[in-house]
Amino acid sequence: MKIDILTLFPNMFDSFFKESIIKRAIENNLVEINIIDFREYSKDPHKKVDDTPYGGGAGMVLTCQPIFDCVNDIKTKDSKVILLTPSGKLFKQNIAYDLSKESHLIIICGHYEGFDERIRTICDLELSIGDYVLTGGEIPALVLVDSITRLIPNVINEESHINDSFNNNLLDYPTYTKPADYNGLKVPEVLLSGDHKKIDEYRKEEQIKKTKENRPDLIN
Ligand code: ADE
Repeated sequence: MKIDILTLFPNMFDSFFKESIIKRAIENNLVEINIIDFREYSKDPHKKVDDTPYGGGAGMVLTCQPIFDCVNDIKTKDSKVILLTPSGKLFKQNIAYDLSKESHLIIICGHYEGFDERIRTICDLELSIGDYVLTGGEIPALVLVDSITRLIPNVINEESHINDSFNNNLLDYPTYTKPADYNGLKVPEVLLSGDHKKIDEYRKEEQIKKTKENRPDLIN
């Protein structure tokens, strides 16, 4: 999969892609990530990318020209163009699954007060990562890239995400590792029993219990 991220702040991404699972996915050619500074597409003599809003109001608005030209330059018939905005559809695990099957994602990070509304006409999907407003789309872009990349086949062991939280609308079951007794805090007996049917039942019960407690909205 190829992911192009359009941003005005390319340096924000540097370290994240050089560590851990994402770094390995890039090295193994399972994902290619390009950071594109769309200011470079600006035809303004001062490389301006924003302007004041028609009708008045606070802040600056990203103009159409640099983003239209940039997307037109890199888009192919297989590209999916995603706009990151707090007014987008809420990004969830099922959307991450669907997007992990695409071959080319173009992710547009906004900044400042917002976008010229006409930019929406070149986007296939508008996504928000949650009901809060960030200073820009860079952190949301990292959230998307991270959650989508780990679902690309062979990036992590598939078994690791079969029981992920949110699959089947349930949160993940609790996990433990050695020692079996840490300062009197004991690992549940059933996990030491070697009885896999019982372990599966225990884990399912715990998933339901935790989901009812922390995220009752998922059960309903
Ligand atoms: N840009 C600013 N806040 C955002 C959010 N919550 N989701 C996506 N993009 C954003």
